[in-house]
Amino acid sequence: MTRPATLIVCKSVHHHSTWQLAECLAEVLAADVVEPEAVTSERVSRYDLIGFGSGVYYGRMHPALLEVLRCLARSTEGRGGGSVAAFVFSTSGLPLFSRLWHWPLRARLAREAVPVIGEFACRGFDSWGPLFLVGGLNRHHPDARDLEQARQFARRLLVQWERVNPSQAA
Ligand SMILES: Cc1cc2nc3c(=O)[nH]c(=O)nc-3n(C[C@H](O)[C@H](O)[C@H](O)COP(=O)(O)O)c2cc1C
Repeated sequence: MTRPATLIVCKSVHHHSTWQLAECLAEVLAADVVEPEAVTSERVSRYDLIGFGSGVYYGRMHPALLEVLRCLARSTEGRGGGSVAAFVFSTSGLPLFSRLWHWPLRARLAREAVPVIGEFACRGFDSWGPLFLVGGLNRHHPDARDLEQARQFARRLLVQWERVNPSQAA
């Protein structure tokens, strides 16, 4: 199996839960993990697959990820469009609503004609605001089970990437 050159862009500001997830995905995907501030159009253009991950803050993924989309847009223009795929992941207090949290980013990716080949979400420790007084929500998450599910997700991503890029994968 040919692996796509993969970049994971992750913003994780609360308890570094999403960064933990990013590193776990990176092991399977042999990906580079960076913060959004380190991304340039030139850098993005070297990758076949870009992962976007963050915690959820006030119902949204971190806005710095949207800046990366501008770099991605410039890099896809340079490539003549297409040929890069994306995936989205998050940790949050309420991952049950992850499709809602991911939706604005997904919509922007769709506008840039970048196919999203997978999404993953799991619980992350949340001690924000009044939750601090009761010891927080999802203490000890992501846990070993969450991380194993993340590894399985990463393996499925590789299969899915081959499906959408049969020529590059051969
Ligand atoms: C300021 C703030 C706002 C948050 N808003 C939400 C929210 O709207 N929905 C939710 O499910 N979790 C929310 N959370 C919980 C975080 O998404 C969760 O703790 C996540 O794991 C943080 O990821 P990180 O440790 O990688 O930064 C919020 C946390 C903080 C600090």
